Amino acid sequence: MASIAIIGTGYVGLTTGACFSHLGHDVICADVDAEKIARLQAGEVPIVEKGLDRLVDEGIRSGKLRFVVGAANASKECEFHYLCVPTPQGADGAADLSYLEAAAAEIASVLPNKSVVVNKSTVPVGSTRVVARVLGRSDVAVVSNPEFLREGTAVSDFLQPDRVVIGSRDQEAAIRVAALYSRIAAPIMVTDPVSAETIKYASNAFLASKLSFVNAIATLCEKVGADVNDVVLGMGYDTRIGREFLRPGPGWGGSCFPKDTKALARIAEDAGYDFHFLDEVLRVNQDQFDRTAQKLIDSVDPALSGSHVAVLGLTFKAGTDDLRDSPSIEVLKRVVAAGIPVTAYDPAVLPRENRLAEMYPELKIELASDPYAAADGAASLAILTEWDEFAWLDFDKLAEVMRGRNIVDARNLLDPTIPRRRGFTYRGVGR
Ligand code: UDX
Repeated sequence: MASIAIIGTGYVGLTTGACFSHLGHDVICADVDAEKIARLQAGEVPIVEKGLDRLVDEGIRSGKLRFVVGAANASKECEFHYLCVPTPQGADGAADLSYLEAAAAEIASVLPNKSVVVNKSTVPVGSTRVVARVLGRSDVAVVSNPEFLREGTAVSDFLQPDRVVIGSRDQEAAIRVAALYSRIAAPIMVTDPVSAETIKYASNAFLASKLSFVNAIATLCEKVGADVNDVVLGMGYDTRIGREFLRPGPGWGGSCFPKDTKALARIAEDAGYDFHFLDEVLRVNQDQFDRTAQKLIDSVDPALSGSHVAVLGLTFKAGTDDLRDSPSIEVLKRVVAAGIPVTAYDPAVLPRENRLAEMYPELKIELASDPYAAADGAASLAILTEWDEFAWLDFDKLAEVMRGRNIVDARNLLDPTIPRRRGFTYRGVGR
């Protein structure tokens, strides 16, 4: 079993560290945030991620998972060094590599002889070279090993991946990194670092394109009177298309798709190729936010002016508490700008937290502690995130508390016959 330092204990780093320790490796996770490390040492997991707290607890108990402040303190004892630091989008659209370079600079002098440094962060094509240059160590190999973890299912995505991609010019280092995954049943693909980095961006941008395509088809379905649920079902039977990532919605978001799609367009531009296809994918997504917002605006009967829209769901998808680049927030920015008051409920964003106001101070909306409190006096109700509990709403209760009778279901979560039977008007996506 190997010794692995994880530099950066965000959602990728913590999942990677906890999963590697579960596979039997000795893992030390490092972060610059001393408070976060103290909480992790006490077994407190700061993010909502299914199964992660159990693995952290298991790792702490077995002694195979430790947490320290400072990258150098972790790296001086280890053979593998996973860089899992953020690469946010800089003002010019390109990824900001300053955290990555700082982490590499911090560990450069303490790395034991013949260590392997692994880039797990999503980094622009060519970053493996940047890390190697900052390290300045000819005895240390730098390898790309991109992550394909979805928030909410990151642990199972790590332990049961579709594939493991390793990018390395050094065959021996690639084999050593591949061996870390020996207990995982998945194809392991070894390629050069530039191809590995491109695989990551191309995968995310392709999935985002699939979603923009499906959302555009949903718009077409509304125009021609087709039912998008049946259309995507019929498409998905074709194994060349596949069933996944065909659910239309209010637009796609999250901390990866928007950032990575824009970054890939930028990488192409820098390389002298105008990848205008991606500009259109992004534009269709903006259109989808606009269209969804218009449905919410239209759902307010002018006779009930002054009354609010009750919104269910703020996070970028169900099963996470993440509000970054959430389609729901994008839609609500437009609704609030149109002068419509909003009261929202989300099971992962409680009124006593100040998170929403801190992240989006310009977005003036009320928070409620359950769907019926949000709907109290509302002109209409809109589902923007597909939390399972919203599929089981009590429409008799909603009819009692709401002033209006309009439902906008931007995730096609409901069976329309149920609200309609109670006298509600139902509007979904593409049906
Ligand atoms: C994504 C990638 O899936 C993952 O492989 C990568 O490493 C990180 O980015 P994540 O951001 O967690 O993961 O979310 P994902 O489940 O992919 O959803 C992204 C967005 O697409 C969400 O807004 C989601 O609601 C939307 N979506 C997804 C749809 O609208 N319809 C679908 O059918 C699937």
